[in-house]
Amino acid sequence: ASTTDVDLSSIEAGQGITAVFRKQPLFVRKLTPKEIAEADAVPLSELRDPETLEERTKEGRKEWLITMGVCTHLGCVPLGITSEQNRGDYGGYFCPCHGSQYDTAARIRKGPAPKNLVVPDYKFDTDTKITVG
Ligand code: FES
Repeated sequence: ASTTDVDLSSIEAGQGITAVFRKQPLFVRKLTPKEIAEADAVPLSELRDPETLEERTKEGRKEWLITMGVCTHLGCVPLGITSEQNRGDYGGYFCPCHGSQYDTAARIRKGPAPKNLVVPDYKFDTDTKITVG
């Protein structure tokens, strides 16, 4: 199976990029302290697919939110990775197809999608490089 390397060095907090992993969009986003605090403040009981930000990121690297850019409803590409516009009501991602809204941990909060955006297998090779897959 193929892997994808992503260089993180040019990504500032509050920004993200779209890479490609196994022919699908991969969202690589650096969260701000405020976005991390917002994710941490949500009680798990409010979540449709309960997971903490900590569980969705690597130890000590909570600011790096690495997910597939594929809505878990019917597979559209959500908006909000490269622009602060269109992040929806919860500050994460907004799927324009049928209105699913994801929060700053890319967890589903509203709309028809059943699950959080998928976190692929990946590892940090250095502080500024990951290998996905
Ligand atoms: Fe995203 Fe339907 S595909 S809401």
